[in-house]
Amino acid sequence: MNYKKKNYLIEGIRANQIVKKYKTPSYCYSYKRIRENINFFKKNFQKINPLTCFAVKANPNRAILKEIGKLGMGADVVSIGELMKAIKSGIKVNKIVFSGVGKTFKEIEYAINKKILLINAESKSEIITIEKIARSKNRKVNVGIRLNPNIDAKTLKQISTGKKENKFGVSEKNFLNLANYVKSSKNLNLKCLSVHIGSQILEIKPYIKMLNVLDKVIKKANHNFEYIDLGGGFGINYGNNNIKLNLRKYSESIKKFLKGKESKIIFEPGRSIIGNAGALLSKVIYIKEGFKKDFVILDAAMNDLIRPALYNANHRIIPAIKNNSKSKKIYEFVGPICESTDKFSSVKNFQRLKENDIIIICDVGAYGMSLSSNYNLRPKPCEILIKNSKIQIINKRQNLRDLI
Ligand code: LLP
Repeated sequence: MNYKKKNYLIEGIRANQIVKKYKTPSYCYSYKRIRENINFFKKNFQKINPLTCFAVKANPNRAILKEIGKLGMGADVVSIGELMKAIKSGIKVNKIVFSGVGKTFKEIEYAINKKILLINAESKSEIITIEKIARSKNRKVNVGIRLNPNIDAKTLKQISTGKKENKFGVSEKNFLNLANYVKSSKNLNLKCLSVHIGSQILEIKPYIKMLNVLDKVIKKANHNFEYIDLGGGFGINYGNNNIKLNLRKYSESIKKFLKGKESKIIFEPGRSIIGNAGALLSKVIYIKEGFKKDFVILDAAMNDLIRPALYNANHRIIPAIKNNSKSKKIYEFVGPICESTDKFSSVKNFQRLKENDIIIICDVGAYGMSLSSNYNLRPKPCEILIKNSKIQIINKRQNLRDLI
């Protein structure tokens, strides 16, 4: 995914060429980039040999899940829908973990029937529900308990999950009580301690703090956890920072932490696997003169990619074909939706654009399409996967007629 001469290419295919055939807005993913990300992840954590479960919420496209599964990953799911899709995509049930604070009776029953690896419970009521279903089926079900370690992940407050004011996990005191409860149950197997402190984490410090908390809690629980699920959250470079999370250093800290324990580590990365492997291709509908800037009105909007509106997230915007000009005014890239937050970014010194030009919104593979909606009755974009320079439509553009 880069320029060759003046053209932006995705696995050797010109973005402009893709758009000619498949129109805009379109999500386009590079298989090669996904594979590179997975290999990079594996290499960094090689020494601890973890089970890596892709967080399906980041991108639940079936073709993508299939490829990720083929590359050896399991799945972290948070709903019956994600669980069904992971299984349908060929991900082995013994590599699937189920997270979330509000799993319903039906969801838990389905997970138990499918014999997935772990249900990571987040409350006493949930554990009692799991036990009830397990008893009715005369089964012994593997559970994990999610700890809230009360740690600041130093990320956006909207995507921080490990502080005591967050709804996720249970306090240390409740964890220890619940662990005893599970240990004494005939129908539950206490297999895992799980934790996930937040997303888009770029510093290693919060993770190290988390490991220290876990170490203490595990000692107090006096239990040999077969799995320790450390969640996901690995941040990526969206182009506005040069900080890179040092995975190798994290791996070394985990190795130290594992000394004297017989536990296998589970990870649940989402963004770091698929984030930079996706681009949103969009066309300039109009350029409108504003007061101090020009509005570049795109055919992609906040319904297609809500991260800028929701989290003030910054996604780089680049032209599909470079030229050597420079716009005199600031360009504000916006969508056509009737909300002032339907805005992607403001850019100084962008090359001069004209109507019908194609631009690319970068690093949208994670939480892009999965957070899209039909707001303003706009059909969702199509999704394209490029693998070995071949284009595959992996999700058709939604049909307007169906929406109406
Ligand atoms: N495991 C659990 C239990 C999670 O809640 C999450 C993400 C993950 C794993 C994967 O985290 P990742 O490695 O992708 O950071 N919509 C937001 C992100 C929300 C993340 C929610 N949980 C965004 O667009 O930034």
